[in-house]
Amino acid sequence: MSKIKLVINGKEVTANKGENILEVAQRNSIYIPRYCYHPALPIAGNCRICLVEIEKNPKLQIACATEVTDGMVIYAESEKVKKARQDVLEFLLINHPLDCPICDQVGECYLQEYYMNYGLRKSRINYEDKLKKTKRVDLGKIILDNERCILCTRCIRFLQEITKTNELFINSRGDNSFIDIKPNTTVNNNYSLNIVDICPVGALTSKDFRFKKRVYFLKTINSICLHCATGCKIKVQFDEAENKIYRILPDPNIYTNTWICDFGRFSYYETNNSAKYKLFNKEIEKNDVFLKYARFFSELIDSKMKICIILSNYLSLEDNISLYYLGTKLLETNYITFFKINERKIIDSILINSDSSPNSYGVEKIAERYKLKEFKNYDFDIVIGFEKEIKTLKIPPDKSVVISYKELDEYSNVIAIPTYFENEGSFINWQGYLRETKISVKGVDKIDLYSFIKKVMSLSSIYIEDKEKLKDSIKRDFIFKTEETNN
Ligand code: SF4
Ligand code: SF4
Ligand code: FES
Repeated sequence: MSKIKLVINGKEVTANKGENILEVAQRNSIYIPRYCYHPALPIAGNCRICLVEIEKNPKLQIACATEVTDGMVIYAESEKVKKARQDVLEFLLINHPLDCPICDQVGECYLQEYYMNYGLRKSRINYEDKLKKTKRVDLGKIILDNERCILCTRCIRFLQEITKTNELFINSRGDNSFIDIKPNTTVNNNYSLNIVDICPVGALTSKDFRFKKRVYFLKTINSICLHCATGCKIKVQFDEAENKIYRILPDPNIYTNTWICDFGRFSYYETNNSAKYKLFNKEIEKNDVFLKYARFFSELIDSKMKICIILSNYLSLEDNISLYYLGTKLLETNYITFFKINERKIIDSILINSDSSPNSYGVEKIAERYKLKEFKNYDFDIVIGFEKEIKTLKIPPDKSVVISYKELDEYSNVIAIPTYFENEGSFINWQGYLRETKISVKGVDKIDLYSFIKKVMSLSSIYIEDKEKLKDSIKRDFIFKTEETNN
């Protein structure tokens, strides 16, 4: 692609033909404000906050929709530009209801931020003269407030271009325009909450998160969604003191996902609800639990029962390798097996994968490494595995040792482990990227499967490497794709 040279704010930069000014500036660390522009949506050019001055051009131009040309000289911070931004902000705020104190967007609102950075002008309209529009419109999982809306159309373009469901549209004309929903519809597609994320103001709020917590009280950890094999990158937001997750947001990246689906977004409920499931009942009983399992496993060995261990497509590489160690080093069984998933593919042209397990690719890599065979339904005396596989295979409770996030009343042998958000682990997504989950909240009275098996085996004087060392060897020995962390 042919390169061109131009100057922005006195800095000489290079660009590709066809790029717009806003993107070239951004790549060169020059920030131009934007409302309607979104890198993953078609350009609308309607908010005008991105106006810049271009030498030899009598009028200001919008940076998001003006292509760079060779030799262009752009001023993104001139007096003319600053004045224009102030005017645009005053215009966008003319009918704003000024209900920031009760708005959920506080802390991440681009009206507030740009007003402080570029506006700071007293409005010339009386509060009583402001237009009244519809508030608290129920869109399904979302509430719309038309008085806060700046008509940037990001939501409409998302529903047109990404989900192609077209639930929303602009109704009426001029300053009476407002976002409306088609009759007898809700915004109920599988990606609906993304419009809340991309709404730059507080016009769209999530029912799930509304009025629950101010965003500046939340901590954020970058992790991955493990609700299907796509393995989207996500941000987990939680209150540290309460040890509770409040919301999941996408962590946009060029490798896998700009958005997330609503199933992944709500997957944190499993963790918040799992707090009552414990492996240890009281601190004092911890060692008794390890001893109980050490005894249980040694009785299994003595009984000469036919033991099968099924690796799980739902568990991390570390947890699966610990199951492999349990089988080979302690129980000495020949039946260590796995479920092969024959097809992993995106089924909706957006993100959702036909494979609902997060690590089937990784388990295949373990199987290759340790030469394991696919599961065959022999007559085993006892089967050790994760809840999903045990239930899918309908293994009777009296023949099962079940690993689970939750207490399962019908099974007497349950090893309760931390959920995805309470544990660290490596997973390989359907594309072959190795990624790690991070601990957002603490699993109370639980211990991760790797550490549990390591401890139980040590009581029989069998020692396996520390989890950290195992992680290093996974990175060294497994074949996977890598990605830059800053994208
Ligand atoms: S609701 Fe939000 S995203 Fe949609 S047009 Fe209004 S401001 Fe833009
Ligand atoms: S597509 Fe899959 S990995 Fe991505 S957010 Fe949805 S469930 Fe999670
Ligand atoms: S961001 Fe350029 S016109 Fe809206």
